[in-house]
Amino acid sequence: MKDDRENLPAHVAVIMDGNGRWARLKDCPRMEGHRRGAENVRSVVEGCRKRGIRHLTLYAFSTENWGRPRAEVEFLMELLGGFLSNEREEMREKGIRFRAIGRISRLPPAVREEVNVTEKVTATGEDLNLFLALNYGARSEIADACRKICEEVLSARMRPEDIDEQAIQERLYTAGVPDPDLVIRTGGEMRLSNFLLWQLSYAEIYFTEILWPEFGDEELHTALQEYARRERRFGRVKN
Ligand code: IPE
Ligand code: IPE
Ligand code: MG
Repeated sequence: MKDDRENLPAHVAVIMDGNGRWARLKDCPRMEGHRRGAENVRSVVEGCRKRGIRHLTLYAFSTENWGRPRAEVEFLMELLGGFLSNEREEMREKGIRFRAIGRISRLPPAVREEVNVTEKVTATGEDLNLFLALNYGARSEIADACRKICEEVLSARMRPEDIDEQAIQERLYTAGVPDPDLVIRTGGEMRLSNFLLWQLSYAEIYFTEILWPEFGDEELHTALQEYARRERRFGRVKN
């Protein structure tokens, strides 16, 4: 395998899609697809960590996913809680710092507790920052940032003329984290589904037909190689 460590993205974001279709292809219940999908998170986290990628953001549950059948939502919440309690010790040992982004206060109390404990246990990790987007929606994130700014203006801690791109960036859930360089969507859909709309303004987008439970290290390697070949211009002309 050719080395993919040249021109590595600092921040990779992944829309982990296709668990349901994977299950259908294997003739098993959707829940089995989610279970396999959760197991696959490990391999991609490890793939990023071993290559020295600094930040990884995984889209696990969107604000729109509450609209799924109740049994599926409950299963996903249990899976999330179980994933965090099983993985946090290894994350700590491997220098992974875990943080959740999204409207965490609206998650079931048991999941919130697992999130809090995992954030605390891994707080000193310095190798890979792992962000899990849970009850995440980019539009609600931007609305939350607007609300914070309005409160600051009303209490005279900020003036309307101070509102600029940086002021908004600093009030997003991802404040202080560089924008993703590369976003990968598995499962073949070519859309962003309300993921990081502000932060992905200049990200390279990589769509693959591979379903999330089958997106392994080789597929990550292919995505990183494709990224390394892209020319990022940011509106300028080629040097
Ligand atoms: C992604 O897989 C997991 C979540 C959105 C929670 P899906 O469940 O969306 O799988 P498909 O798109 O139905 O195949
Ligand atoms: C996006 O997948 C959300 C996550 C991967 C968590 P969906 O399956 O919910 O997206 P749509 O419905 O195809 O847009
Ligand atoms: Mg889907």
